Amino acid sequence: MRTETIDSEYAFDNAAAEAVPQLRALEAFLDPITMRRLAPPVLCQAARCWEVGAGGGSVAHGMAWAVGADGHVLATDIDTSRLAPTANLDVRRHDVRTELPPGAAFDLVHARLVLLHLPERRHILRSLTGALAPGGWLVVEEFDCTAPLRVLTAPNDDAAKLFGQVADAMLGILQGHGADLAWAQDVHAEMTYAGLVDVDTVTHAESWAGESSGASLYETNSRQLEPELLEAGFTPGQLEAFRKLLRDPAFAVMSYEFVSTRGRRLPG
Ligand SMILES: C[S@@+](CC[C@H](N)C(=O)[O-])C[C@H]1O[C@@H](n2cnc3c(N)ncnc32)[C@H](O)[C@@H]1O
Repeated sequence: MRTETIDSEYAFDNAAAEAVPQLRALEAFLDPITMRRLAPPVLCQAARCWEVGAGGGSVAHGMAWAVGADGHVLATDIDTSRLAPTANLDVRRHDVRTELPPGAAFDLVHARLVLLHLPERRHILRSLTGALAPGGWLVVEEFDCTAPLRVLTAPNDDAAKLFGQVADAMLGILQGHGADLAWAQDVHAEMTYAGLVDVDTVTHAESWAGESSGASLYETNSRQLEPELLEAGFTPGQLEAFRKLLRDPAFAVMSYEFVSTRGRRLPG
């Protein structure tokens, strides 16, 4: 199968119909982990927050609830079509690759599954650090996609093999768009080099059975990346068999490892 370098544009399209189930599946899997990582003292009443690459907006809304009426959340994305403002939550189109941060005194800056995709990730991490108020927190969360895919159960060997081929090809396509599948491993050191203190990292992985929202991520991703998967040599029948497998309770795979790293700018 062929997966060559194409360009460095973000690979997915928030405006596509498949983006809704894709973002919802991410949120169902990750929001409980993220909200634990953002618990006080990271996210406090009256805080000013910036949610970078906010996607479907669930974390931004969680932050807006937590900071209360005296706090404020700014949710930015290159595509804001899935984001809705509220009284203390503003939505703004913003390209974190090319634009300066929309402020310089945030108590919390959070970016989940964004920098991984962007070739300028190291520079962006420095720029996010520069947007923190003294004592402010930066939380960066990514998938580490370096471990070999681990199919736990499958109806037969051919199905497990097809799963591995399509899933690997999708990772190759993302790399072709500039993603660094190992970036999650570097975030802790990059935060330390950027001068943040109290840097800590936790990881999480779990099994995704057929029909689960985790497994459905592979299906929605395969729909979003279908033109490139076909170009890489997969047939429509193979992609349909892949999607059927993801709805089969006899199938289970280990998730990617989710790596959550946070650090704080020195107070005062
Ligand atoms: C995989 S989604 C994650 C969405 C959300 N952070 C979450 O975890 O639920 C990546 C998000 O980053 C946004 N994004 C991609 N490139 C961006 C850029 N250059 N500037 C700002 N946002 C970007 C995408 O539009 C998308 O909403």
